[in-house]
Parts: sequence; C-alpha cells; structure tokens
Amino acid sequence: MTHLVELSSAPARFGANMATSAFKKLPGFRDFPPEDLALRSHIVETWRRVSRRYGLLEYDGPPLESLDLYVEKSGDEIVGQLYSFTDKGDREVALRPEMTPSLARILGDRSRGMSKPIRWFATPQLFRYERQQRGRLREHFQWNVDIVGEEHVAADAEILAVAIDGLRELGLTADHFRARVSDRRLLSAVLTAFGVQDDSLDVAFGVIDKLERVPREASLEALVKDVDLEMSRADALLGIFDGGGLEDLPQDVMKSSEVSTALDRFQVYLEALEAMGLREYVEIDLCIVRGLAYYTGIVFELFDTGRDLRAICGGGRYDRLLEFVGGEPLPAVGFGMGDVVLGELLADRGLVPEYARSLDYFIVTVSSKERTEALRIAHMLRENGRSVAYALKDQTLGKQLKAAAREGASQVLIVGPDELARGCITARDMESGSEREIPLSELK
Ligand code: HAM
Repeated sequence: MTHLVELSSAPARFGANMATSAFKKLPGFRDFPPEDLALRSHIVETWRRVSRRYGLLEYDGPPLESLDLYVEKSGDEIVGQLYSFTDKGDREVALRPEMTPSLARILGDRSRGMSKPIRWFATPQLFRYERQQRGRLREHFQWNVDIVGEEHVAADAEILAVAIDGLRELGLTADHFRARVSDRRLLSAVLTAFGVQDDSLDVAFGVIDKLERVPREASLEALVKDVDLEMSRADALLGIFDGGGLEDLPQDVMKSSEVSTALDRFQVYLEALEAMGLREYVEIDLCIVRGLAYYTGIVFELFDTGRDLRAICGGGRYDRLLEFVGGEPLPAVGFGMGDVVLGELLADRGLVPEYARSLDYFIVTVSSKERTEALRIAHMLRENGRSVAYALKDQTLGKQLKAAAREGASQVLIVGPDELARGCITARDMESGSEREIPLSELK
C-alpha cells in the first residue's frame, strides 16, 4: 500500500518542487547539441586520422581512478583541481584529470610482454576543477599521444610532429601556431650553475613555469625566498628567461657538460623536424617548463602565434613515471591536446566547417494508404547503408517537402498510388528540382 501511495504522489511532488530552472548546467561543463557536437567530432576525427597515419593504436581507460594515482605523480597544481570523493566502498577516488597516470598504470600491468616502442593514442574526457577562464573549463576532451619504451630523441621529434600535424590537418598553418620547446635537463643545468640546490629545483621550475603569468617582482621574490638565491643571482637568472633563447645563456653555463649534451640532443631533434618539413613551427624557449611533476627531458607547448589564448597542447619526456607507478622502468614521451582552446582558435581563424544536416533520402507519402509500402522501402534502403527519414504521422505534401529540405535530403522519394500501381516511385533531386520515375526493383 505504501508503495502505491509513493508512486501516485511522485509526479505531483516532482512538478511542484522542481521548476525547470532548478536544473542548471554546472559551471565549466558543456552541453553538446548536434551543431556543437559537430565541431567536437570534426576535431576528434581529425586527431584519429592523424594518429593512424603515424601507426598509433587507440586505447582507453576508466574515467574514475584511485586518488593515489595522482597524488605526488601529477604535481600540486592538478591535485588541487581534482574532483575526488570517497565511494560507497570507502575508496578514495578521483575523476581522471589527465590520462598519463592511467596510461602508466595500464602499461605497468602489461608492458613486459609487449614489443617496444609502444605507440598509443586516446581521446578521453577529463575533469579538473579549474578557475573558469577563456580556454579553461572543468571538463575537456584531450588527444593523448605517447611513445613508450624508446629513449632516443627521435621519439621526441616524432611526438612533436604528430602534434603539429594534428593542427595542420585542421587547416592551421605556421601563421597560426608555434611549438615552444625546452629541456628540463638543460634547465636543471642552468639553475644549478646559478646556485640552485638540487632539493630546490622543483620549486625553481614552478617559478619559471609561471613567469609569463605573474609580475617579475613576484618571481624575483619567490626565487629569493623559496629557492634561496641571492637577489643579484635571482635577477641575472630571470634575465635569461626574458629572451628565452639559448643565445642568452652565459659562457660559463654553456661550457658545462650537461648543457652541451642537451644542446647536441636539441640539434638532432631539430634536424629530424627539419627533415620532416616542420622546422618552421618550432622555437626553442627556455621559459617552457610544464606544470606537471613527472617530466624529465624535452618539454614543449603549442601556442597561437598571437598569444591571445592559453596553451593548445603540452607534453614532453617522462622517463620515470612508469617505474613510479610500479611498472617496468621504461622511457616515455607524449603530449595532451585539448579541444577547448583548439575550438576557439579554429573559430577565430574561420576554420570551423559549416554545420549542415544531410540525408540521402526523405520519403514522402501522398496519403496514409502508402505508409506500409513507404516503411518497406525506407527499411530496404537503410539496409543498403542509405540514410533515410520520413514524417512519423500523416502530413500534407507541402509539410513533408519542407521537412525534407530542413533535414538536408539530397533526394525526395514520392510514394503515390498511381506510381505504385506501375511499380515505381518518383525521385525528386532537391538541388535541381528535376524529377524521374524509378522502378521499385532498381531502388538502392
Ligand atoms: P596539460 O598541459 O595539463 O598536460 O594539458 C594538455 C592540454 O590539455 C592543454 O594544453 C590544454 O589544451 C588542455 N587542457 C588542460 N586543462 C584544461 C582545462 N581545464 N580546460 C580546457 N583544456 C584544458 C597533460 O595533461 C599531460 N598529461 C599531457 C601528456 C601526455 N604528457 C605526456 N603525455
């Protein structure tokens, strides 16, 4: 009886308390009605096509992971932005904010039996509780490309080439974007030469990573207070990053063996990109550090040339992460490219394809008597792979033709009693308006 009362009262309660305005979209999340989904699909399909050209295999993982996977491995910035909670089994869990820790975990379980290098890609939806600003939302789709098991710098060049080609395939050129490249090993050597102690390197990286977003005075203060540099050293160090290029490195720093190894590595890297015809997209810029904790070598970010937008893409080498996550110690390099900034850039540059509905056939019936035959024809055409629609209730010819135009039909098939008596239908080409009769047996 209680059951019945609950059931019968439910609709009234629902109607009374839940006005439609109560169901607002959460800030930082997007709806994708078809016209908006079209752009996302265009981007993701382009990423897939380019991935396949590079022989990459697609993978995925769960959207929810153990919280532990991110703590320490991703770095404070991302950990502070986690959507995390305790599940009903008392597990501390988090919605994935990035894919790289999942990739490391997945490979940790199975890489030993796999031939190397492993070249994988994914296009997951990710979640970060970020402060909302242009180009940063609380969910986004991110193209991840990673090569695991190869330490040669050729893998670094290959990874950057995939990212650049992903953007070129969307119609962007060297007029629209650049890859800014640095090397954490080179940066460590420079910082050490300036007197930064090993245990302060991460803090110093954090200061450099934010140089472009905070006033110079605040960076100086952080270098003095948190990194323990003298003011004059801190000032000289910042001078290097004002230009960002290698030419600003002091002579004594250039002589260190770590720096010269890093410079030789850069040369091989740039020569590979030159051979691929992509050199014009690449700039060396020591200001690039990357906010994530696990990077160990060459790091890069892609930006629009006008520098109006946040980074379109970021990545680099992370040779220790798989081991940290408990797997085989394997070198790795990869990137993540988000759909949000990219969508903005494509819109700014007029590169969003026009949204258009399309349909092979719209079937029009002259009266309700032809409906059964129309359904048979529609189903036969769909089985042949054609896209077909029709009015779901009886309508005037005029209304049906309007619907056909609205849905972008290439042809309208008119099913009428006279034509059916002759075993035919009339096909109207929607672009030219021309009509011809087609025997039912020839329809495909
Ligand atoms: P990330 O720099 O944190 O790297 O993100 C890569 C890209 O994802 C950014 O450049 C941006 O386009 C996009 N993105 C990140 N956060 C947001 C957001 N809140 N809203 C919109 N777009 C966003 C990583 O995630 C690394 N795991 C990439 C990687 C893969 N490194 C090696 N393999």
